[in-house]
Amino acid sequence: FAGNNSDFLKGVVAMSGLPPGDRIEVCFAGRSNVGKSSLINAVTGRTRLARASNTPGRTQEINFFSLTDSHYLVDLPGYGYANAPLAIVEKWQRLLKQYLSGRANLRRAFVLVDTRHGIKSVDEEIMSLLDSSAVTFQVVMTKADKVKDKDRQRILEQVRERLSKHPAAFPEIVMTSSEKGDGIATLRAIIAGLD
Ligand code: GTP
Ligand code: MG
Repeated sequence: FAGNNSDFLKGVVAMSGLPPGDRIEVCFAGRSNVGKSSLINAVTGRTRLARASNTPGRTQEINFFSLTDSHYLVDLPGYGYANAPLAIVEKWQRLLKQYLSGRANLRRAFVLVDTRHGIKSVDEEIMSLLDSSAVTFQVVMTKADKVKDKDRQRILEQVRERLSKHPAAFPEIVMTSSEKGDGIATLRAIIAGLD
């Protein structure tokens, strides 16, 4: 589906703003700066569709993209951004919980994890939230190009071990590099195969 029907639909700050749940939906979640926007750009084949920036926490809304005529892709704001005011963080967490527990057409969440860092405590928090919301999630490792082969294997072991404790976790881990294109076709195929 690269390049064709992908388009930014809208940014949402409240449940009342959600588009109708008339398509299969997937969401991307991850720590600030993990590479969400870059991955969305790579998956859609549109270099400037989701803003990729060097400023952590730039993405502050739930951003809806039309991926195909039958798929929405949702970019959740980066979590674990310490500089955001508490009131903003709390408002955001409320919206996130409402979205995850109330979106019937949401088929899978992709939890993005930086290959250099592995799973951090904020990732554990979102994975636990996904468990309790009964949203199946799959881990996508990002920025694989920044890590040597042998270090990658060690991080993967850590991630596998953590995932085994989460009932909503899908066991297969996808290794990606938005920069080099690794794993992008695999991720596209996974999304396209959801029904
Ligand atoms: P926020 O929306 O600000 O939370 O960040 P994000 O998760 O959307 O990350 P973004 O895509 O903006 O990428 C953050 C930084 O990492 C940018 O400088 C990107 O160029 C870089 N980056 C993203 N993906 C890759 C990758 O696969 N390889 C390398 N080497 N760098 C990457
Ligand atoms: Mg972003």
